[in-house]
Amino acid sequence: MTATELKKKYIEFFTGKGHAAISGSSLIPENDPTVLFTTAGMHPLVPYILGEPHPSGKRLVDVQKCIRTGDIDEVGDPSHLTFFEMLGNWSLGDYFKEEAIRLSYEFLTSPRWLGFDPETLSVTVFAGDDEVPADEEAAAVWRSLGIPNERIHFFGRADNWWGPAGQTGPCGPDTEMFIDTGIEPCGPECKPGCSCGKYFEVWNDVFMQYNKTADGRYLPLEQKTVDTGMGVERTCAMLQGRKNVYEIETFVPIIQAVEQISGRRYGVRDGGETDGGGAESDRSMRIITDHIRSATFILGDDKGVKPSNLGQGYILRRLIRRAIRHARKLGIDQNFLSAPAEACIEAQRDAYPELERNRRTILDELAREEAKFLQTLQKGEHEFEKLLPNLLKNPRRLVPGRVAFRLYDTYGFPIELTQELAAEHEMSVDVEGFQEAFRKHQELSKSGAEKTFKGGLADQSEMTRRLHTATHLMHQALRQVLGNHVEQKGSNITAERLRFDFSHPEPMTEEQIHRVEEIVNEQIRRDLPVSFQTMSLQEAREHGAIALFGERYEEKVKVYSVGDFSMEVCGGPHVERTGELGRFRIVKEQSSSAGVRRIRAVVE
Ligand code: ALA
Repeated sequence: MTATELKKKYIEFFTGKGHAAISGSSLIPENDPTVLFTTAGMHPLVPYILGEPHPSGKRLVDVQKCIRTGDIDEVGDPSHLTFFEMLGNWSLGDYFKEEAIRLSYEFLTSPRWLGFDPETLSVTVFAGDDEVPADEEAAAVWRSLGIPNERIHFFGRADNWWGPAGQTGPCGPDTEMFIDTGIEPCGPECKPGCSCGKYFEVWNDVFMQYNKTADGRYLPLEQKTVDTGMGVERTCAMLQGRKNVYEIETFVPIIQAVEQISGRRYGVRDGGETDGGGAESDRSMRIITDHIRSATFILGDDKGVKPSNLGQGYILRRLIRRAIRHARKLGIDQNFLSAPAEACIEAQRDAYPELERNRRTILDELAREEAKFLQTLQKGEHEFEKLLPNLLKNPRRLVPGRVAFRLYDTYGFPIELTQELAAEHEMSVDVEGFQEAFRKHQELSKSGAEKTFKGGLADQSEMTRRLHTATHLMHQALRQVLGNHVEQKGSNITAERLRFDFSHPEPMTEEQIHRVEEIVNEQIRRDLPVSFQTMSLQEAREHGAIALFGERYEEKVKVYSVGDFSMEVCGGPHVERTGELGRFRIVKEQSSSAGVRRIRAVVE
């Protein structure tokens, strides 16, 4: 079964069980400062998991593009990826644990659907701790379905818990499903979760049943929700009887492009020998393949993320640069990114037309970054080699933080690469010392790169609501002052400020900035009510609402109105009246990219 067929089946199964199919969202989260990328299907649904009614109802299903870089060091093994597609079904206060597990079991094992042999299925459930009891209920459902105790494993929080770590909010245990690939266990301790490749985690059902309070108690939630995530690539690999994800049809053309450029053969796919480099060379090929695929999807996401030293742009840059480093290990020292990127676009353009739409940008940006990095690499590696004799004298085999920082600061050589070079000489890098030097040098150093990459629950604070509503007012005011060509290109809200990117060909004048502030503050003074209605996108258009996502919505949408002033398709959250906002002020107006301006503004 191909990835396309799997996705189709999943949607068909769950719509047959009363779920509404909704479209996946962008890889770049809207209005959520807690993560840089969409890390799970639940991410765009956070307001609904927290209790807002979803316009399409209580049972939902979709396919979501995800990026996770938390596990970047595992990439290269049989199953970890930085970009992947996640299938998900949700119950927002409708069915709960028993039905969710039964649905998963039916889809996995029924010959009408995926038809996995139930004997190959193992599951994990939450083992309980001092604060929350073990999830005996989930285990009992699995037993009732015929899974014997030896294939039901109890694990702790690190493996079987989902929700805001250390924060407050909805959270709960989960149950993960693994397919046995049939290879020999790596040892007596080998069980689901082991990274040897025997067990492939294919699906996770999360049961949000507690609300963690500020004083650390876990109270039962009124609206219990189910959030599930099935990995398309892993499940496909299992359905196709493969031993790793890189052997399915979405990866093979990319690997082939890398094979052609490097003149090496990727060993595992043919079941044969690799060409000299052995396992290491295969690993590099997988890393290159994964990273190019992620970079292609990030650049192809319509949100205009470009390689940079901050936030999403930094992650993108790191992925591209890591791919190039591994290519050099394979002996590729010329520019090479475009052929594998083209292969990736070809392999997935039907499912993701944005890749085709942004083909030029993807290829141009990759080429630009590649040229830049090759220069950096040559200088950085040369410098490292010069330092090496001295570094090797250090008995702790530690590269001092200030040395790593100097390589970064003077030659643009990223710390990860210094770490890789150091590792090649059995040394490590004093990362804390590096960070200390960085902090001293630049307040902004922490950037987005250290933010959490695990699915967090969005900041629903009062300030976020105020800034969210302020964004709508400002958007409308910009259209009044500058014209209707103004369209949202990006929006990001933290507890301190809003940031809004929009199309406009030139810098705003002082007077225009002042006028926008005046208009917004006037709407705040009018204390307008904020309300929403649910309708189809077509109806929303007919009502004159601003729809930010082009043609993407097929389903029902929420249209927020701020009095008679603004009407915009949006998921919320918002304040109830504009009087709650305070005074609105534009802090900065600058260029974001060609034809796109960026505003930072506050309410105070
Ligand atoms: N949100 C859950 C996950 O990503 C389903 O594993």
